[in-house]
Amino acid sequence: MAELAEKPTEAVPRVGKQGEPCIMVIFGAAGDLTGRMLIPALYNLARANLLSREFAVVGVARAPMSIEAFRKKVYEHVKEYCTDCVDSDLWEWFERRFYYLAGDFNDDSLYPKLKEFLDKIDRDHSTRQNFFYYLATAPNYFGSIVEKLAAIGLMDQVPDHWRRVIIEKPFGHDLESAKVLNQQLLKVAGEKQIYRIDHYLGKETVQNILAFRFANGIFEPIWNRRYIDHIQISVAETVGVEERGSYFDQAGALRDMVPNHMMQLISLTSMEPPISFDANAVRDEQAKILHAIQPMSDEDVLSRTVRGQYAEGVINGERVPGYRMETGVPPDSRTETFVAIKLLIDNWRWADVPFYLRTGKRLPMRNTQIVIQFRRAPFVLFRDTTVEHLMPNQLVLHIQPEEGISLRFAAKVPGPVMRLGAVDMNFEYQQYFGKQPNTGYERLLHDCMIGDQTLFQRADMVEAGWSVVNPVLDIWKALPPRNFPNYPAGTWGPKEADELLERDGRRWRNFDK
Ligand code: BG6
Repeated sequence: MAELAEKPTEAVPRVGKQGEPCIMVIFGAAGDLTGRMLIPALYNLARANLLSREFAVVGVARAPMSIEAFRKKVYEHVKEYCTDCVDSDLWEWFERRFYYLAGDFNDDSLYPKLKEFLDKIDRDHSTRQNFFYYLATAPNYFGSIVEKLAAIGLMDQVPDHWRRVIIEKPFGHDLESAKVLNQQLLKVAGEKQIYRIDHYLGKETVQNILAFRFANGIFEPIWNRRYIDHIQISVAETVGVEERGSYFDQAGALRDMVPNHMMQLISLTSMEPPISFDANAVRDEQAKILHAIQPMSDEDVLSRTVRGQYAEGVINGERVPGYRMETGVPPDSRTETFVAIKLLIDNWRWADVPFYLRTGKRLPMRNTQIVIQFRRAPFVLFRDTTVEHLMPNQLVLHIQPEEGISLRFAAKVPGPVMRLGAVDMNFEYQQYFGKQPNTGYERLLHDCMIGDQTLFQRADMVEAGWSVVNPVLDIWKALPPRNFPNYPAGTWGPKEADELLERDGRRWRNFDK
């Protein structure tokens, strides 16, 4: 562990202004996302005193349920998230803010009822007619819910109150459908009202990429093609498709992870410094870099992309079924569960620096990291010593599960002869700042409550992300894979993924090192 200056004795307190008075309406309040993420995140915000005292939540879902029963469920979700964090005074305050309305999102008669309900809660909680709607629903409802809300005036924004909508992923299933959805939303709402969420931007370590790059003077001067050889971005998961087989089989790993989460990681790693931390200044730079990603020709898709599907295998000593045996997946499915891609960015900073991406299900360990590999030292000073292979420097941004940053460099191994070894200087978030209760959704919900869109996707960014993967989708569709399944669960994907780098004289960095 490297010595860090001025180590604080306790966790750094969260700073920030309190959310504005408002009502959060959750469409899909009975779903998994609400229970596992949104409710615990709201509770964490309450604990951090970041919720307005004038705040309420309305859960909307199909199943009939009393308000008391909904509050009981909310309690169970908070308890499940953290057994010893329920403080009775806070809980009493928190619980009184939860309401429930049953209804079918497609049914027009739900919306006048919702309006009346919101008016009453607004009066009781003095929420000043500020409402935001969280669409934790199946994606086919996104456009129509917003249209129906708008039709009844529930999207009307005037100077003394605001109306916002948070849209979950997937935002479209290809470029065309994303454009159609954007048009549908923008017909009835302004871009400033639309918060397209990507939960990767809620992760501390992802936000820290910006802090690391732009709050430190020493990295930016070497953050370019002159010093950087290539960049690897890996998102490895040990899980399979769990209960989501039927969704995943329609989507595949490419759609599920690349145009959204992986594009965030690329854009934050490679964007130019924004002129300020204003939402549009940051997003302009992100959009610019996404537009600079070299479009792939048909040949590029064939030579620079790899797809895979897991067969049965062993993970952590446990036998797990192949993808085609998962619930909801057809036995002859050709959907990919693994993707590796080499991308190039056409601008002065990054010309000829490859960005290698890989993501997959049922890999040997869960790990998300960005590896910045620097060029080798310019000449082999150690030629006449016993040192043969000088390891290039690597800076690794560890996103999860370990959160931190490490720098690998060469050091002399003690002894009478000149020998070099690779050593790591590590910064671990938890060791330095302590553990913060965080689902990843706190910051994003709070940002919506204060009207900060920096960490949300603008229409053009979503479309730019899809533009990168669209040629791949087209070619993969036209040429279905013939060798699936092609990697056993518990391995690092098909051998072609290794060959993708080996052809360029490079290797994936192993996670365990
Ligand atoms: C979701 C994908 O968006 O992200 C899932 O739909 C994936 O398939 C998940 O497992 C990964 O998120 P995280 O936060 O666990 O890296």
